[in-house]
Amino acid sequence: MTAAVAFLSLGVTGCGKHEKPNFIYMPDMYWSPGVKPQGPGFRTPVAGTIPRGYTPYPFKGHPELAGKGMINPLKRTSAVLARGQDRFNIYCIVCHGAQGMGNGSVVPKYPHPPSLHSDKVRNWADGDIYHVITNGQNIMPSYASQISQADRWAIIHYVRAIQRAQKPSAEDVKAAEQE
Ligand code: HEC
Repeated sequence: MTAAVAFLSLGVTGCGKHEKPNFIYMPDMYWSPGVKPQGPGFRTPVAGTIPRGYTPYPFKGHPELAGKGMINPLKRTSAVLARGQDRFNIYCIVCHGAQGMGNGSVVPKYPHPPSLHSDKVRNWADGDIYHVITNGQNIMPSYASQISQADRWAIIHYVRAIQRAQKPSAEDVKAAEQE
């Protein structure tokens, strides 16, 4: 009898002392590292320094040099085009529309952006478009802090693709005729 009571009470206190749940769904969230604001992870950089791996944009204030000064470093692969489409549909579509016609969902609440199929933009170098995404242009804001450099170039490949879909180049037509 005594033994049974002792056993029972042990069992009960054992239960009460359970401090950790038996099963933790996402341990990383449960035991997060708990970085403190102003802690060592958040040191402010020394004035004039730049984060490792970051190149300052060299054509700030010089749109006239951007087109000749940069070439698209990415190859037009299907993966790059898919990435460009994905990012375009996140960042550009709301104003420029799916086909770049300037009729996105925020228009006309937001001023009508120009078509991306104008002769002007079609004749622009990739670097000129890069400049607009990076710097903004008049009322179009800069997307430099939101879109990585590689993603900007991928978006430009995608813009070229929708331009060519709208107005196939002589080369595209020749390729289609040979099929
Ligand atoms: C908030 C709305 C908005 C978003 C989002 C936006 N744009 Fe624009 N964009 C504009 C407007 C408005 C202009 C015209 C600015 C001006 O008056 O010069 C413009 C101009 C441009 C031009 C120059 C066209 C020309 O004829 O001068 C290009 C190229 C361009 N945008 C590409 C993009 C790309 C690529 C993205 C996505 C990364 C993007 N824009 C996102 C509103 C937007």
